[in-house]
Amino acid sequence: MEVEKVFDGVFKIDSRLCTVNLVKGSSVYGEDLINYRGREYRLWNPYRSKLAAAILLGLNGLAIKEGSTVLYLGAATGTTSSHVSDIVGSKGMVYCVEISERNMRELFKVCDVRHNMLPIYKDARDVPSYSADVGTVDAIYQDVAARDQDDILLRNSALLKMSGHAYVAIKSQSIDVSMDPKEVYKNFFDKVGAVFDVIESIDIGRYDKKHLFVTLKKTRKG
Ligand SMILES: C[S@@+](CC[C@H](N)C(=O)[O-])C[C@H]1O[C@@H](n2cnc3c(N)ncnc32)[C@H](O)[C@@H]1O
Repeated sequence: MEVEKVFDGVFKIDSRLCTVNLVKGSSVYGEDLINYRGREYRLWNPYRSKLAAAILLGLNGLAIKEGSTVLYLGAATGTTSSHVSDIVGSKGMVYCVEISERNMRELFKVCDVRHNMLPIYKDARDVPSYSADVGTVDAIYQDVAARDQDDILLRNSALLKMSGHAYVAIKSQSIDVSMDPKEVYKNFFDKVGAVFDVIESIDIGRYDKKHLFVTLKKTRKG
């Protein structure tokens, strides 16, 4: 087997993306576990996770690393956030905001065994309802598939440290089905430009239709 490091905490085993399992023996969404040279790796499915898709499609940098604190907006049942939890490790923390009760029930089970994931059953628009629990974070990850996702990101940017990064999956169809995706993305960039610079953007349509994955850097208070 050949293990190649992609980013801190992110590897490829024989070209398959994976992270090192923080909770040995535990699989979150049916992904395979591979034991190799004393480490247990979890395969990371790009069809289930937009971050995995972006990495496989050439993401240039990932500021989320061991010890990072991450505010995760739209954690759903914990697929991607559990891999983020592997990356940040036991010294880091992933604050998982999720609005759906059904998804939250599944997410609770994941957070129960992963002590660096904190479930927050709230609307990500209501930042004051969880800001005291979260404090200031190193990075934001947003995948809420909501029409007002630009506004949701701006509200939460107050919790991001200056020069911190935000990783955002934008589904053009969730914002406006009738509009050309390019126009949707342009409107998004114009709006979040009040706080963020765009570092890179990757079309991840090969794995998830009509999705753009963008890396932003907080450069202004807004
Ligand atoms: C596409 S799914 C996220 C998938 C997840 N990021 C992953 O890769 O494992 C979008 C999630 O955002 C949640 N969501 C939508 N609007 C939200 C809001 N205003 N606040 C919090 N969560 C929200 C939905 O309930 C859904 O679970």
